[in-house]
Amino acid sequence: MELSQPKTITYTESAALLERARQVLAGGVSSEFRKYNHPHAIFYTHGLGSRIYDVDGNEYLDFTLSQGPLLLGHSHPEVLQAVQEYSEQGQLFAGQHLREIKLAEKLVQLIPSAELLRFCLDGSEAVQTALRVARAKTGRQKFLRFEGHYHGWLDNVAWGFSAPSLEALGERDNPTVFPWSQGLATNSRDEFSVLPWNDLALVEEFVARNHQELAAIITEPIMCNNGCILPEPAFLPGLRNLCDQYGIALIFDEVITGFRVGLGGAQQFYDVTPDLSIFAKALASGYPISAVVGKRDWMKRIEDGSVIHAGTMNAGNPTVAAALATLKVLEREQPHQRLYQYGWQLMAGLQQAAADTGQNLQIQGLGPMFSTVFTDSAPARDYRGTLANDKAKLSRFIAGLHNRGVRVIGRGLWYISAAHTQADIDQAIQTATDVLKTL
Ligand SMILES: Cc1ncc(COP(=O)(O)O)c(C=O)c1O
Repeated sequence: MELSQPKTITYTESAALLERARQVLAGGVSSEFRKYNHPHAIFYTHGLGSRIYDVDGNEYLDFTLSQGPLLLGHSHPEVLQAVQEYSEQGQLFAGQHLREIKLAEKLVQLIPSAELLRFCLDGSEAVQTALRVARAKTGRQKFLRFEGHYHGWLDNVAWGFSAPSLEALGERDNPTVFPWSQGLATNSRDEFSVLPWNDLALVEEFVARNHQELAAIITEPIMCNNGCILPEPAFLPGLRNLCDQYGIALIFDEVITGFRVGLGGAQQFYDVTPDLSIFAKALASGYPISAVVGKRDWMKRIEDGSVIHAGTMNAGNPTVAAALATLKVLEREQPHQRLYQYGWQLMAGLQQAAADTGQNLQIQGLGPMFSTVFTDSAPARDYRGTLANDKAKLSRFIAGLHNRGVRVIGRGLWYISAAHTQADIDQAIQTATDVLKTL
């Protein structure tokens, strides 16, 4: 087959709009991660199914899916119709509406740990709500988190997400923790401890020493944000046992895994039930809603008003409509088998392409989402393992794909949607093969 040349993709209009945006939007963007598109922040006009289009008229086969939310693909007609219908009946009531109950009932039915829940606007807020509930019930102040996991951008979790090098991280049982931003409240560093992930013995030893001050252990059940690393078989059950033993809240941050690995999230997939968990991204196909869900025993702190959770914009008509419509389509069409099948096919196709072209591409993940990195090392089992990856080569790979009309998240994370087709998977493998030949 002929080698596909980079399309005549130009970014002239986006570059001009970025220049204009910079005059009024800090950095030209509304979220830090959007700066890191290739070759700079890109301005889009519309998205449809598995495709997204930019102001230069370029069409991309999209595996970014807006950083995960678009599990049904762009602009699913049933979601759009529901949003329009519900919006016409009002937007926000500063009061309750029936559909909110229906959505909550659906989540309680789908998610193993969900007995009571509250809606928020995004993952970051819901994480904070869960931590507050955990502190209130246990009467303890600190939480344990893991290196390389992302739990939003707010102060007490904007630490320990990244590090300049393996050496800089120091000892595994006493890691150096780096802030992700300037301006974090210095006392936010006192709220948590950090350990490498997937090392149950290390966590057991730490918790045995520190349980009296530990309110919660929070983890992404799959380390999606750095390498899409799966938990080792004993890890999540081990955390569950430890939390039971010492009365600590086990919090699963299912912002990425929720609805994506299955309708009951990673907790159903791995059969480990957390006390509290957070669902966001894929819940509403790109509309801003999240949920903190949990066992009644924990969530009753919010129920009885001893823990305050509030928000003017929570559970508005259009966002609830989007979530109900999304779940309806997911339940009716049951796309997960296809998400896995296409995901595995794509992973296998990329691995074969790498073998054929002699590239040290390494793939980890589950299918509906997976990560591509370049390394000669063994597959990483924690964030430290990912620091050996060749980031410059990954950037060239992502740029090469983008210049040929395939859009993937810059850190090598691929998301599959229900809108992707066999032809899309074939196109992605062919394009990746062409790019790998050039690296
Ligand atoms: C695992 C995880 N938790 C929390 C968040 C924060 O969610 P949001 O960006 O909706 O505030 C993210 C965002 O990417 C995430 O991946």
